[in-house]
Amino acid sequence: MSIEDLDQTARTLVAAGKGILAIDESGPTLARRFAEVGLANSEANRRAYRELLVTAPGLAASISGVALSDETIRQSTRDGVPFARYLADQGILAGIKVDKGTQPLAGCPGEVVTEGLDGLRQRLEEYRRLGARFAKWRAVVRIGEGIPTGTCIESNNHALARFAALAQEQGLVPVVEPEVLMDGDHDIDTSHEVHEVVLRSLFDALYQQDVMLDAVLLKASMVLPGSDCDETAGVDEVAATTLACIRATVPAIVPGIVFLSGGQDGERATAHLDALNRMGPHPWVLSFSYGRALQSAALHAWAQDPAGNADKAQDAVVRRARANALAAQGRWAA
Ligand code: 13P
Repeated sequence: MSIEDLDQTARTLVAAGKGILAIDESGPTLARRFAEVGLANSEANRRAYRELLVTAPGLAASISGVALSDETIRQSTRDGVPFARYLADQGILAGIKVDKGTQPLAGCPGEVVTEGLDGLRQRLEEYRRLGARFAKWRAVVRIGEGIPTGTCIESNNHALARFAALAQEQGLVPVVEPEVLMDGDHDIDTSHEVHEVVLRSLFDALYQQDVMLDAVLLKASMVLPGSDCDETAGVDEVAATTLACIRATVPAIVPGIVFLSGGQDGERATAHLDALNRMGPHPWVLSFSYGRALQSAALHAWAQDPAGNADKAQDAVVRRARANALAAQGRWAA
Protein backbone atom coordinates (compact mmCIF):
# COMPACT_ATOMS: atom_id res chain seq x y z
CA MET A 1 0.00 0.00 0.00
CA SER A 2 1.39 3.41 -0.95
CA ILE A 3 1.54 6.51 1.20
CA GLU A 4 -1.20 8.07 -0.96
CA ASP A 5 -3.59 5.26 0.00
CA LEU A 6 -2.75 5.51 3.70
CA ASP A 7 -3.06 9.26 3.60
CA GLN A 8 -6.46 8.88 1.90
CA THR A 9 -7.62 6.43 4.57
CA ALA A 10 -6.55 8.81 7.33
CA ARG A 11 -8.47 11.64 5.66
CA THR A 12 -11.54 9.46 5.23
CA LEU A 13 -11.48 8.76 8.97
CA VAL A 14 -11.59 12.49 9.72
CA ALA A 15 -13.90 13.52 6.86
CA ALA A 16 -15.98 16.60 7.71
CA GLY A 17 -18.62 15.83 10.32
CA LYS A 18 -17.49 12.27 10.98
CA GLY A 19 -15.64 10.50 13.75
CA ILE A 20 -14.76 7.09 15.15
CA LEU A 21 -16.85 4.81 17.35
CA ALA A 22 -14.57 2.84 19.69
CA ILE A 23 -16.01 -0.56 20.62
CA ASP A 24 -12.65 -2.22 21.10
CA GLU A 25 -12.75 -2.69 24.88
CA SER A 26 -10.52 -5.52 26.05
CA GLY A 27 -12.17 -8.59 27.62
CA PRO A 28 -11.66 -7.40 31.23
CA THR A 29 -12.87 -3.85 30.46
CA LEU A 30 -16.05 -5.03 28.74
CA ALA A 31 -16.64 -7.50 31.59
CA ARG A 32 -16.50 -4.53 34.00
CA ARG A 33 -18.90 -2.45 31.85
CA PHE A 34 -21.33 -5.38 31.60
CA ALA A 35 -21.14 -6.03 35.36
CA GLU A 36 -22.01 -2.37 36.08
CA VAL A 37 -25.32 -2.81 34.25
CA GLY A 38 -25.99 -6.40 35.37
CA LEU A 39 -25.23 -8.20 32.10
CA ALA A 40 -23.57 -11.62 32.00
CA ASN A 41 -20.17 -11.52 30.31
CA SER A 42 -20.81 -14.35 27.86
CA GLU A 43 -19.47 -14.61 24.31
CA ALA A 44 -23.08 -14.55 23.09
CA ASN A 45 -23.80 -11.29 24.93
CA ARG A 46 -20.58 -9.65 23.77
CA ARG A 47 -21.35 -10.57 20.14
CA ALA A 48 -24.98 -9.48 20.38
CA TYR A 49 -24.03 -6.14 21.96
CA ARG A 50 -21.41 -5.43 19.31
CA GLU A 51 -23.88 -6.42 16.57
CA LEU A 52 -26.40 -3.98 18.00
CA LEU A 53 -23.86 -1.13 17.71
CA VAL A 54 -22.38 -2.08 14.35
CA THR A 55 -25.80 -2.45 12.69
CA ALA A 56 -27.43 0.66 14.20
CA PRO A 57 -29.41 2.19 11.30
CA GLY A 58 -28.04 5.57 10.22
CA LEU A 59 -24.66 5.17 11.95
CA ALA A 60 -22.72 5.83 8.73
CA ALA A 61 -24.00 9.42 8.51
CA SER A 62 -21.73 10.43 11.42
CA ILE A 63 -19.29 7.55 11.88
CA SER A 64 -16.33 7.03 9.52
CA GLY A 65 -14.68 4.17 11.38
CA VAL A 66 -15.38 1.61 14.08
CA ALA A 67 -12.51 0.30 16.22
CA LEU A 68 -12.91 -3.42 16.99
CA SER A 69 -11.15 -5.87 19.29
CA ASP A 70 -9.48 -9.14 18.28
CA GLU A 71 -12.59 -11.05 19.33
CA THR A 72 -15.02 -8.75 17.51
CA ILE A 73 -13.17 -8.64 14.18
CA ARG A 74 -13.56 -12.44 14.06
CA GLN A 75 -17.32 -12.30 14.81
CA SER A 76 -20.26 -11.93 12.44
CA THR A 77 -23.83 -10.70 12.48
CA ARG A 78 -26.48 -13.29 13.27
CA ASP A 79 -26.95 -13.58 9.49
CA GLY A 80 -23.31 -14.60 9.16
CA VAL A 81 -21.82 -11.38 7.74
CA PRO A 82 -18.42 -10.63 9.33
CA PHE A 83 -18.62 -7.30 11.19
CA ALA A 84 -15.74 -5.82 9.15
CA ARG A 85 -17.58 -6.64 5.89
CA TYR A 86 -20.87 -5.31 7.25
CA LEU A 87 -19.16 -2.02 8.12
CA ALA A 88 -17.40 -1.79 4.75
CA ASP A 89 -20.77 -2.27 3.00
CA GLN A 90 -22.06 0.78 4.90
CA GLY A 91 -19.00 2.82 3.89
CA ILE A 92 -17.47 2.60 7.38
CA LEU A 93 -13.81 1.63 7.85
CA ALA A 94 -13.04 -1.16 10.31
CA GLY A 95 -10.18 -0.67 12.75
CA ILE A 96 -8.46 -2.92 15.23
CA LYS A 97 -6.94 -2.43 18.65
CA VAL A 98 -3.60 -4.21 18.51
CA ASP A 99 -1.92 -3.53 21.83
CA LYS A 100 -2.01 -6.19 24.52
CA GLY A 101 -2.79 -3.89 27.41
CA THR A 102 -0.60 -2.54 30.19
CA GLN A 103 1.82 -4.13 32.66
CA PRO A 104 3.60 -2.51 35.63
CA LEU A 105 6.75 -0.74 34.40
CA ALA A 106 9.79 -2.21 36.14
CA GLY A 107 11.56 0.29 38.36
CA CYS A 108 8.72 2.82 38.14
CA PRO A 109 6.21 2.22 40.95
CA GLY A 110 2.65 3.22 40.03
CA GLU A 111 3.39 3.39 36.30
CA VAL A 112 2.56 1.08 33.43
CA VAL A 113 3.85 0.28 29.97
CA THR A 114 1.78 -1.03 27.08
CA GLU A 115 2.86 -4.35 25.62
CA GLY A 116 2.19 -6.12 22.34
CA LEU A 117 5.10 -5.50 19.94
CA ASP A 118 6.18 -9.16 19.71
CA GLY A 119 4.69 -10.74 16.60
CA LEU A 120 2.90 -7.51 15.74
CA ARG A 121 3.88 -7.55 12.04
CA GLN A 122 2.18 -10.93 11.55
CA ARG A 123 -0.90 -9.88 13.53
CA LEU A 124 -1.25 -6.67 11.48
CA GLU A 125 -0.95 -8.68 8.29
CA GLU A 126 -3.78 -10.95 9.44
CA TYR A 127 -5.99 -8.06 10.59
CA ARG A 128 -5.60 -6.39 7.21
CA ARG A 129 -6.74 -9.61 5.55
CA LEU A 130 -9.72 -9.64 7.93
CA GLY A 131 -10.66 -6.16 6.66
CA ALA A 132 -9.05 -3.70 9.11
CA ARG A 133 -7.89 -0.41 7.57
CA PHE A 134 -6.66 1.33 10.72
CA ALA A 135 -5.05 0.13 13.93
CA LYS A 136 -4.92 1.55 17.43
CA TRP A 137 -2.41 1.36 20.29
CA ARG A 138 -3.12 2.92 23.67
CA ALA A 139 -0.48 4.02 26.14
CA VAL A 140 -1.50 5.09 29.63
CA VAL A 141 0.13 7.90 31.62
CA ARG A 142 -0.86 8.57 35.22
CA ILE A 143 -0.38 11.86 37.03
CA GLY A 144 0.52 11.66 40.74
CA GLU A 145 3.25 12.26 43.29
CA GLY A 146 6.50 12.23 41.28
CA ILE A 147 4.84 10.71 38.21
CA PRO A 148 4.87 10.50 35.28
CA THR A 149 8.60 9.79 35.05
CA GLY A 150 10.59 10.37 31.89
CA THR A 151 11.20 6.62 31.80
CA CYS A 152 7.47 5.92 31.60
CA ILE A 153 6.83 8.56 28.95
CA GLU A 154 9.75 7.52 26.77
CA SER A 155 9.14 3.77 27.08
CA ASN A 156 5.51 4.16 26.09
CA ASN A 157 6.21 6.56 23.24
CA HIS A 158 8.95 4.34 21.86
CA ALA A 159 6.43 1.48 21.72
CA LEU A 160 3.79 3.74 20.13
CA ALA A 161 6.27 4.75 17.43
CA ARG A 162 7.34 1.15 16.75
CA PHE A 163 3.66 0.23 16.44
CA ALA A 164 2.98 3.15 14.09
CA ALA A 165 5.89 2.28 11.79
CA LEU A 166 4.76 -1.37 11.61
CA ALA A 167 1.12 -0.43 10.99
CA GLN A 168 2.10 1.81 8.06
CA GLU A 169 4.38 -0.91 6.68
CA GLN A 170 1.40 -3.28 6.68
CA GLY A 171 -0.97 -0.75 5.07
CA LEU A 172 -2.95 0.28 8.13
CA VAL A 173 -3.32 3.84 9.40
CA PRO A 174 -1.94 4.02 12.93
CA VAL A 175 -4.04 5.75 15.55
CA VAL A 176 -1.54 6.62 18.28
CA GLU A 177 -3.12 7.08 21.67
CA PRO A 178 -1.09 8.38 24.59
CA GLU A 179 -3.88 8.73 27.16
CA VAL A 180 -3.12 10.93 30.16
CA LEU A 181 -5.64 9.72 32.73
CA MET A 182 -8.09 12.03 34.49
CA ASP A 183 -7.67 10.08 37.76
CA GLY A 184 -6.16 12.13 40.58
CA ASP A 185 -6.44 15.49 42.30
CA HIS A 186 -4.10 17.44 40.00
CA ASP A 187 -5.24 20.76 38.54
CA ILE A 188 -5.67 21.66 34.87
CA ASP A 189 -2.24 23.38 34.72
CA THR A 190 -0.53 20.18 35.83
CA SER A 191 -2.50 18.24 33.23
CA HIS A 192 -1.43 20.79 30.60
CA GLU A 193 2.24 20.46 31.55
CA VAL A 194 2.13 16.65 31.45
CA HIS A 195 0.26 16.58 28.12
CA GLU A 196 2.90 18.89 26.58
CA VAL A 197 5.80 16.75 27.71
CA VAL A 198 4.07 13.56 26.57
CA LEU A 199 3.10 14.90 23.13
CA ARG A 200 6.50 16.45 22.44
CA SER A 201 8.20 13.18 23.29
CA LEU A 202 5.68 11.25 21.17
CA PHE A 203 6.36 13.27 18.03
CA ASP A 204 10.13 12.96 18.63
CA ALA A 205 9.70 9.18 18.81
CA LEU A 206 7.54 9.09 15.65
CA TYR A 207 10.16 11.17 13.84
CA GLN A 208 12.95 8.86 14.98
CA GLN A 209 11.09 5.81 13.67
CA ASP A 210 10.44 7.46 10.27
CA VAL A 211 6.67 7.37 10.69
CA MET A 212 4.85 9.27 7.93
CA LEU A 213 3.01 11.95 9.87
CA ASP A 214 0.49 12.65 7.10
CA ALA A 215 -0.80 9.10 7.51
CA VAL A 216 -1.19 9.06 11.29
CA LEU A 217 -4.07 10.08 13.53
CA LEU A 218 -3.43 11.23 17.08
CA LYS A 219 -5.93 9.99 19.62
CA ALA A 220 -5.50 12.45 22.45
CA SER A 221 -6.96 13.03 25.86
CA MET A 222 -8.37 16.49 26.54
CA VAL A 223 -6.58 18.68 29.05
CA LEU A 224 -8.81 18.49 32.13
CA PRO A 225 -8.39 18.88 35.88
CA GLY A 226 -8.13 15.53 37.72
CA SER A 227 -11.43 13.90 38.64
CA ASP A 228 -10.67 14.49 42.38
CA CYS A 229 -9.45 18.08 41.95
CA ASP A 230 -11.30 20.71 44.04
CA GLU A 231 -11.24 23.21 41.18
CA THR A 232 -13.44 22.57 38.19
CA ALA A 233 -12.82 24.03 34.73
CA GLY A 234 -15.43 25.50 32.40
CA VAL A 235 -16.00 24.25 28.86
CA ASP A 236 -14.14 27.17 27.27
CA GLU A 237 -11.19 26.83 29.65
CA VAL A 238 -10.84 23.12 28.82
CA ALA A 239 -11.05 23.85 25.10
CA ALA A 240 -8.59 26.77 25.21
CA THR A 241 -6.06 24.84 27.31
CA THR A 242 -6.33 21.75 25.14
CA LEU A 243 -5.89 23.90 22.05
CA ALA A 244 -2.83 25.70 23.45
CA CYS A 245 -1.30 22.30 24.19
CA ILE A 246 -1.89 20.71 20.77
CA ARG A 247 -0.82 23.89 18.95
CA ALA A 248 2.51 23.72 20.74
CA THR A 249 3.11 20.05 20.11
CA VAL A 250 1.25 18.51 17.15
CA PRO A 251 2.72 19.18 13.69
CA ALA A 252 0.29 20.68 11.17
CA ILE A 253 0.94 17.82 8.74
CA VAL A 254 -0.97 15.40 11.00
CA PRO A 255 -4.41 15.16 9.32
CA GLY A 256 -6.50 14.76 12.42
CA ILE A 257 -6.71 14.57 16.17
CA VAL A 258 -9.51 12.36 17.45
CA PHE A 259 -10.21 12.80 21.13
CA LEU A 260 -11.05 10.05 23.59
CA SER A 261 -13.72 10.71 26.18
CA GLY A 262 -11.75 9.23 29.09
CA GLY A 263 -14.70 8.90 31.45
CA GLN A 264 -16.15 12.38 30.88
CA ASP A 265 -19.89 12.60 30.92
CA GLY A 266 -21.20 12.20 27.34
CA GLU A 267 -22.68 15.69 26.98
CA ARG A 268 -19.58 17.28 28.43
CA ALA A 269 -17.32 15.46 25.96
CA THR A 270 -19.53 16.80 23.15
CA ALA A 271 -19.48 20.36 24.54
CA HIS A 272 -15.66 20.32 24.78
CA LEU A 273 -15.26 19.11 21.20
CA ASP A 274 -17.73 21.70 19.97
CA ALA A 275 -15.92 24.52 21.81
CA LEU A 276 -12.58 23.36 20.40
CA ASN A 277 -13.94 23.58 16.87
CA ARG A 278 -15.57 26.95 17.43
CA MET A 279 -12.06 28.23 18.25
CA GLY A 280 -10.87 27.28 14.72
CA PRO A 281 -9.84 27.22 11.98
CA HIS A 282 -7.16 24.68 12.87
CA PRO A 283 -4.47 23.00 10.76
CA TRP A 284 -5.78 19.52 11.71
CA VAL A 285 -9.33 18.18 11.83
CA LEU A 286 -10.49 17.89 15.45
CA SER A 287 -12.93 15.03 15.84
CA PHE A 288 -13.76 12.16 18.17
CA SER A 289 -12.97 8.52 18.82
CA TYR A 290 -15.22 8.02 21.80
CA GLY A 291 -16.03 4.80 23.58
CA ARG A 292 -18.05 5.45 26.72
CA ALA A 293 -19.36 8.87 25.61
CA LEU A 294 -21.04 7.22 22.61
CA GLN A 295 -22.02 3.90 24.15
CA SER A 296 -23.19 4.56 27.73
CA ALA A 297 -26.84 5.39 27.01
CA ALA A 298 -27.10 2.52 24.52
CA LEU A 299 -25.58 0.00 26.93
CA HIS A 300 -27.92 1.05 29.75
CA ALA A 301 -31.00 0.80 27.51
CA TRP A 302 -29.97 -2.59 26.13
CA ALA A 303 -29.13 -4.01 29.57
CA GLN A 304 -32.61 -3.17 30.85
CA ASP A 305 -34.27 -5.31 28.20
CA PRO A 306 -32.03 -6.78 25.47
CA ALA A 307 -34.94 -7.99 23.32
CA GLY A 308 -37.38 -5.14 23.85
CA ASN A 309 -34.95 -2.20 23.91
CA ALA A 310 -32.78 -2.97 20.87
CA ASP A 311 -34.27 -0.13 18.80
CA LYS A 312 -34.01 2.29 21.69
CA ALA A 313 -30.36 1.35 22.29
CA GLN A 314 -29.48 1.73 18.59
CA ASP A 315 -31.23 5.06 18.51
CA ALA A 316 -29.21 6.18 21.57
CA VAL A 317 -25.83 5.45 19.99
CA VAL A 318 -26.81 7.10 16.70
CA ARG A 319 -28.06 10.20 18.52
CA ARG A 320 -24.79 10.53 20.45
CA ALA A 321 -22.83 10.01 17.22
CA ARG A 322 -24.87 12.70 15.46
CA ALA A 323 -24.33 15.22 18.29
CA ASN A 324 -20.58 14.63 18.18
CA ALA A 325 -20.51 14.87 14.38
CA LEU A 326 -22.01 18.35 14.76
CA ALA A 327 -19.50 19.18 17.50
CA ALA A 328 -16.69 18.08 15.16
CA GLN A 329 -17.79 21.01 12.97
CA GLY A 330 -18.47 23.44 15.83
CA ARG A 331 -22.18 23.29 15.01
CA TRP A 332 -23.59 21.52 18.06
CA ALA A 333 -26.37 23.23 20.04
CA ALA A 334 -26.81 21.87 23.57
P1 13P B 1 -13.30 6.34 26.01
O1 13P B 1 -13.86 7.37 25.06
O2 13P B 1 -14.35 5.59 26.76
O3 13P B 1 -12.22 6.90 26.88
O4 13P B 1 -12.62 5.21 25.12
C1 13P B 1 -11.86 5.57 24.07
C2 13P B 1 -10.92 4.49 23.78
O5 13P B 1 -11.04 3.82 22.79
C3 13P B 1 -9.80 4.23 24.70
O6 13P B 1 -8.81 3.47 24.08
